[in-house]
Amino acid sequence: MPAVVIVGGQWGDEGKGRIVDLAAAKAHIVARYSAGNNAGHTIVNELGKFSLHLVPAGIFYPDKLCLIGNGLVIDPAVLLGEIAGLESRGVAVRGRLFVSDRAHVIMPWHPKLDALDEGLRGRAAIGTTGRGVGPASVDKVGRLGIRMADLIDRQGLRERLSALLPYKNAMLEKLYDSSPLDEHSIYEQYAGYGAELAPFVADTACLAQEALSRGESVLLEGAQGALLDLDIGTYEYVTSSVPSSLAAGACIGLGIGPTQVSAVVGVYKSYMTRVGNGPMPTELTDEDGDRLREHGPQPEYGATTGRPRRCGWFDAVASRYTARINGVTAVALTRLDVLDQFATIKVCKAYSLDGAMIDRFPAGLAALTKAEPVYEDLPGWQVDTSGIRRFANLPREARAYVRRIEEMLGAPVRLVSVGPQRDQAIPMGELF
Ligand code: GDP
Ligand code: IMO
Ligand code: MG
Repeated sequence: MPAVVIVGGQWGDEGKGRIVDLAAAKAHIVARYSAGNNAGHTIVNELGKFSLHLVPAGIFYPDKLCLIGNGLVIDPAVLLGEIAGLESRGVAVRGRLFVSDRAHVIMPWHPKLDALDEGLRGRAAIGTTGRGVGPASVDKVGRLGIRMADLIDRQGLRERLSALLPYKNAMLEKLYDSSPLDEHSIYEQYAGYGAELAPFVADTACLAQEALSRGESVLLEGAQGALLDLDIGTYEYVTSSVPSSLAAGACIGLGIGPTQVSAVVGVYKSYMTRVGNGPMPTELTDEDGDRLREHGPQPEYGATTGRPRRCGWFDAVASRYTARINGVTAVALTRLDVLDQFATIKVCKAYSLDGAMIDRFPAGLAALTKAEPVYEDLPGWQVDTSGIRRFANLPREARAYVRRIEEMLGAPVRLVSVGPQRDQAIPMGELF
């Protein structure tokens, strides 16, 4: 096992955090490689419930090294808050959590621009998490970013700020009709963050490469889901992460070569959810949608913003599309227990579009908005599965459901989860 990528196959929140938390037992290093604190990864273990936004989900194993790669955009206040929160609950972080010196920094103008942009878009608003991740990614691509290496260098930060802030303030004032930001107070605040974070900043690519050359294993923790990807997702209702959170982005976002990756675990929920705006062909706005949202110990509300998640039946058209693009070698199917309550469960096997049946995921927003799901009905089991730990002990209908999903995805299901706790999982072979 050199490097393994764990990615979301839908619109995020598939349960990547809990799968990484489980799989990390087999790895030496766990690394985030993309996005920022728009991600919210929930882990429930013996210490309680945690919502991680930047720190990799391997942090609960005291012997694992955790890396935050160059592919992230980092809000230093959020990272410091997360570190303090973990330490206050008895999780040791120092000396085993490192942040890339090449990762970009979310500056105060980024969340501000996020909100202003959403306002300007009006009805076309994306429904972002408002964390500034989009504008920080835009600045990265636009070569207007500040990186961790600058943040921890007082002089470098001063120079970078005095070069950038007049530009940003001109935008805020002239384009957005908003108020400018004060250079001195930003400098003082961010130089302070830099001093606090300096012990955590390292060349994380080097750490990962050296570990791999010693024969150690690296688990790469994806954020979001493929349908939120800038290139292959439901554009423009996507996230802006560069590199992509797809499996293909993992190498760039950590700084390793593609020949190091030996497996890709696709995490799929047993049904679909989405937070924010944009097309979702199988969305249910009826009682069944509410039942998907509200059932069980962890109802469907965003781990980052607390927004209710839109819910719908499993979409095999969209999910097969993302399994292929990610080159998924094994599937972890989560939240099967949520389906315990239904007498009949639907799975979307094709779309009906302008009178034709299609089984390919369309690119256009208009087509995705018009696409009508064509469902296959599968019998439910109406038995509590949350205590089951062996596949053979699942009700026959539940086994048939898992097998049907596997067939439609075209990738083997190697794990099913039936609750948020680490042990509420049914292994079906090795994930990698
Ligand atoms: P991530 O962003 O992909 O890590 O997923 P989130 O943590 O945002 O959302 C997944 C939610 O489902 C969290 O509240 C988890 O605690 C919860 N969860 C994960 N696996 C299961 C499961 O098998 N059953 C139930 N009921 N909840 C689960
Ligand atoms: P995890 O890693 C679910 C969504 C937002 C919005 C769109 C753009 O927890 O699965 P952004 O703030 O990124 O500019 O918002 O992307 N989004 C997520 N939805 N889970 C996530 O991460 C998400 N990260 C971004 O809701 O629709
Ligand atoms: Mg999440």
